[in-house]
Amino acid sequence: MNRIFSGVQPTGNLHLGNYLGAIRNWVRLQEQYDCIYCVVDLHAITAPQDPDELRANTREVTAGLLAAGIDPANNIVFNQSRVSGHAELAWIFNCVARLGWLNRMTQFKEKAGKHRDNATVGLYAYPTLMAADILLYKATHVPVGEDQKQHLELTRDIAQAFNSMFKTELFPMPEPLILGAAARVMSLRDGSKKMSKSDGSDYSRINMTDDADAIALKVRKARTDSEPLPGSPDGLEGRTEAANLLGIYGALADKTVAQVCEEFAGEPFSVFKLQLVDLAVSVLAPIGKEMKRLCDDPNYVDQVLSDGAERATEIATPILSEVKKLAGLL
Ligand code: TYM
Repeated sequence: MNRIFSGVQPTGNLHLGNYLGAIRNWVRLQEQYDCIYCVVDLHAITAPQDPDELRANTREVTAGLLAAGIDPANNIVFNQSRVSGHAELAWIFNCVARLGWLNRMTQFKEKAGKHRDNATVGLYAYPTLMAADILLYKATHVPVGEDQKQHLELTRDIAQAFNSMFKTELFPMPEPLILGAAARVMSLRDGSKKMSKSDGSDYSRINMTDDADAIALKVRKARTDSEPLPGSPDGLEGRTEAANLLGIYGALADKTVAQVCEEFAGEPFSVFKLQLVDLAVSVLAPIGKEMKRLCDDPNYVDQVLSDGAERATEIATPILSEVKKLAGLL
């Protein structure tokens, strides 16, 4: 049976990268698969969090998923810490994964930076918890942005190692689903950096709650080059900022980058940016508005999370029991 699992951290503003790289695909996949979508608060605390802000962000990110169109009645939406099996399976995977595998993880190197000794053990073990998220439900497909590809490879290594250690075929080898023209949305200020929640400049990203004025200002300020737009994607080589904006436009309009190039061939960025603003506002404004409405109704959001956690537990419990039995845990 095919099953989708994916997750998002409740660490501040959801942005266009989260939406185009992941959440929009989650919405589409719910038509074809059984989907489990998780707000990964245990991953969030691998870096220090203010408890009140974490609670608020968990609700806001959940509101974002619902506002984007995820139906919590036909899918499971919950926050990770409510299902203790994630942490239990992560511990078992900590005893399967090798230091050498974790040492290769680029996200840890980026996040820990020069202060490696000061990073939490949780940040280092982050990928084993992510493997546990996915395998606790025997998920077969994982829709993510490109930055999560390496973590998915590690998940497969862990699944394989567990299966071979305990002579079982319990775990499937989950496949990443990296979809669309914007699987890696870059910063609007620097085309070599990924758009991220942690960038110090708010002008680097479009947040899902930004209003039309904020979107217009950020697109207007987005870095470009002085050439007109090319007639084909070949003309984007070495033009990272231009390629990023065209990719964003393509993803929002459901067009390929080649189609967008054809549409704007020879135009200056000033013309293209006006169209991009209109398009971004038409897609994001209704979602932002609905997010705000849901954030004003925290009881509803909490009910979705507790109901989702109950249903997630039902799926996870027999799988975790099987894992414990295989591992000899009485
Ligand atoms: P997180 O919270 O950083 O991001 C959530 C999703 O958004 C995608 N994404 C992007 N896609 C395109 N361009 C960008 N600039 C961009 N920034 C973020 C991410 O690829 C991701 O799909 N480790 C995960 C959360 C996680 C998870 C899981 C995901 C925990 N357990 C199990 C899948 C399965 C993370 O930090 O995502």
